[in-house]
Amino acid sequence: MNIIISKVELRRIVKNARNDGKTIGFVPTMGFLHDGHLSLIQRARKENDIVVTSIFVNPTQFDPNEDLDTYPRDMESDCELMASAGVDIAFFPTAESIYPHGYATYVQVEGNMTQVLCGRSRPTHFKGVTTVVTKLFHMVFPNLAYFGQKDAQQVAVLKQMVGDLDFDVKIVVCPIVREGDGLAMSSRNSYLTPEQRTQAPVLHRSLCKAKEMIANGERSAAIIKQNIEKKIDAIGSAAIDYVAVVNAHTLETMESLKGEILIAVAAKFGDTRLIDNIQIEV
Ligand code: PAJ
Repeated sequence: MNIIISKVELRRIVKNARNDGKTIGFVPTMGFLHDGHLSLIQRARKENDIVVTSIFVNPTQFDPNEDLDTYPRDMESDCELMASAGVDIAFFPTAESIYPHGYATYVQVEGNMTQVLCGRSRPTHFKGVTTVVTKLFHMVFPNLAYFGQKDAQQVAVLKQMVGDLDFDVKIVVCPIVREGDGLAMSSRNSYLTPEQRTQAPVLHRSLCKAKEMIANGERSAAIIKQNIEKKIDAIGSAAIDYVAVVNAHTLETMESLKGEILIAVAAKFGDTRLIDNIQIEV
């Protein structure tokens, strides 16, 4: 595995590979890798000649009062995991190379899609994501880019951006990888106290119950929402940020369930904010 810090060197290598007719699969991450990230890398490994993974804790997608400084990092373990999963190039750009002094350009998907769900409590988050992913796409020059359904809103926003701005890259969406008790894997799970860790699977349980209700014929978004809220509230220490039932592509709210729907939740366990979702075809 080639570890690269310089964007100039990275670009030289990937351009040569593309000129030789090789395909490039790209997995952008913020590191502290777990099996969720590795599932994206494994899929990219199967579908491309060259796999590039980036690790960059992107400051512009953290709001001022969020966990940028304490976000977990472990470069040594990340390198071991990437090497054993078959990554060809591990790209570790520096903050100075991504946002040099005087940096002033941002990419933003306007409107509802970035304002609802996580956008309500994280108003600048998606602008940071679309900006850094644009920059990384320009550096890595991928044919295919892999993202997790875990961050369903991120996927919807990035697909919108790629379509609107005519990026020549295909977004591949990979399923959510979970712990044995259903908790969606996340780098932020490491913040949970043992007690919060036992409570956190309630998010997944409440989504499974919603799925069951829909399979049994329930079509009211309000009833589904209330049921999920009740289940999470019953865990006294979890504070709901949102429970939303929306169109999976446009993220528009719906009253009566129809088509591809996304049920998404966010809740805080102490200071740790966790998200989860399921997508259902009704
Ligand atoms: P990060 O949170 O490190 O996640 C990197 C990728 O792994 C994302 O596409 C995310 O959806 C996926 N992922 C995380 N947990 C997963 C799980 N349990 N199952 C499946 N996939 C999972 O998302 C980001 O970083 C950043 O916003 C980034 C796109 C790198 C831009 O900075």
